[in-house]
Amino acid sequence: MSVHKNVKRVTTHVLQEMKNNGEKISMLTAYDFSMARIVDTAGMDVILVGDSASNVMAGHETTLPITLEQMIYHASSVVRAVQRALVVVDMPFGSYQGNSKEALSNAIKIMKESGAHAVKMEGGQEIIESVTRILTAGIPVMGHLGLTPQSIYKFGTYIVRAKEDAEADRLIEDAKALEDAGCFAIVLEKIPAMLAEKVAKSVSIPIIGIGAGGGVDGQVLVVHDMLGINNEFNPRFLRKYHNLYEEMMGAFQRYIEDVKSRDFPNESEQY
Ligand code: KIV
Repeated sequence: MSVHKNVKRVTTHVLQEMKNNGEKISMLTAYDFSMARIVDTAGMDVILVGDSASNVMAGHETTLPITLEQMIYHASSVVRAVQRALVVVDMPFGSYQGNSKEALSNAIKIMKESGAHAVKMEGGQEIIESVTRILTAGIPVMGHLGLTPQSIYKFGTYIVRAKEDAEADRLIEDAKALEDAGCFAIVLEKIPAMLAEKVAKSVSIPIIGIGAGGGVDGQVLVVHDMLGINNEFNPRFLRKYHNLYEEMMGAFQRYIEDVKSRDFPNESEQY
């Protein structure tokens, strides 16, 4: 039996209460049923079905290639596993930037077909029409500012954003615009800690950081990164809670040896 049978679900209102009470919000990505079940059972507040699935699940260099259908596949697998956490799904590149009517129908498709609880969108004032239209349909929206990987070809690199005053001022204005539009939270990615703290104090909705320091209302990491599955990704902001790359490599190599040496299966491992 599940440990969460009678557990109160995390909603956008619960997250707001957490900010109001000074309780930090924990958020992690997941893209499949088995991982999401462990993450949820651990007690994570928010599970993000990130478009980072494009990188860590599909092996693409950027988040741009992942499709709406692929995001819905990942999201519905996660939703089937989750009993407590709020499940947020990234709207993929191209599904909301141009036309706000299309953005709404894509957000509705995600909500209907995956059963998730909210969507996340990258950008500020330039996408406010789409954000507003989606919110009008009663779909909760999480914003995403700072380093927005869907715009990697505009930025050119994955370095820290908003170090200059002009970009920092614009980021604060964008955060306020997203709050005014009705977003329930905003992710801030890879910006100076002092700026992130200033944003968290300038808006009343929760600010969740990744590479944005400790002065925000919560933290998010990509699950494969924090488990150390990818041993080539070592940015300064990442704390690795495991070295799964080494552990899995060892397990796979031991299995190969056992098969080759006929040690596996033994008497007790057969019928
Ligand atoms: O796609 C993702 O995993 C994200 C997080 C990095 C916030 O957007």
